[in-house]
Amino acid sequence: MNLRLFIWRQPNRNTPGKMVEYRAHDLSPDMSFLEMLDVVNEGLIARGEDPIAFDSDCREGICGMCSLVVNGIAHGPQRATTVCQLHLRHFRDGETISVEPWRARPFPVQKDLVVDRSAFDRVIAAGGYISINAGGAPEANAIPVPKDLSERAMDAAACIGCGACVAACKNASAALFVAAKISHLALLPQGNPERARRADAMVRQMDAEGFGNCSNEGECEAVCPKEISLSHIARMRREYFRATWLWRRA
Ligand code: SF4
Ligand code: FES
Repeated sequence: MNLRLFIWRQPNRNTPGKMVEYRAHDLSPDMSFLEMLDVVNEGLIARGEDPIAFDSDCREGICGMCSLVVNGIAHGPQRATTVCQLHLRHFRDGETISVEPWRARPFPVQKDLVVDRSAFDRVIAAGGYISINAGGAPEANAIPVPKDLSERAMDAAACIGCGACVAACKNASAALFVAAKISHLALLPQGNPERARRADAMVRQMDAEGFGNCSNEGECEAVCPKEISLSHIARMRREYFRATWLWRRA
């Protein structure tokens, strides 16, 4: 199959970018979207041109590195699918496709389709952990966890930190990402002792990074490749409210 591509090219953070047209020929419908970009890049390199910069690592939907807006949708048109797991069979032969980076002020473009997502790292560093000396792996049943809580914690832990929720939100809110991390730890007994300090610190860091407020639009949940539920945002708000009473007043 053949595709007509309009791809965002930007030399660096301080230089304006633009959409550039490319043609990709003789593609297999079984190729992933990133493999198609690899083919385009091989052609560019063969012609002595600068290849298109884009992020990827696992290409299995688990690391959260891939970050493309395809035809205006973060991670592309396939629901609950990272762009590395999106295959060309979901597009028509001869289709015109636009490819852009995440667009959000806290995620500045570094080059072409690569954005700086270190704001997420700083939110995690503010409190997304349990401060104990973990030592060796504990005996699995040493701390009993009710089944429903472990299931809900695992649902939240599925967040891969890709940032699609921010890219899709008109407010560039990171609420779904931060809520997933706060929920994951707040629901488990191991996360309980630092629950208030964690919620307070992570929400304040999220605000300091310049992410916008959540106004319950739901685009984040719609594009999330791990189908993280908006209900975690409700839990984050409850945790933060609790923290402002318990932690700051302690
Ligand atoms: S909540 Fe979903 S979209 Fe947002 S960072 Fe986590 S996995 Fe990605
Ligand atoms: S490259 Fe790892 S999730 Fe896409």
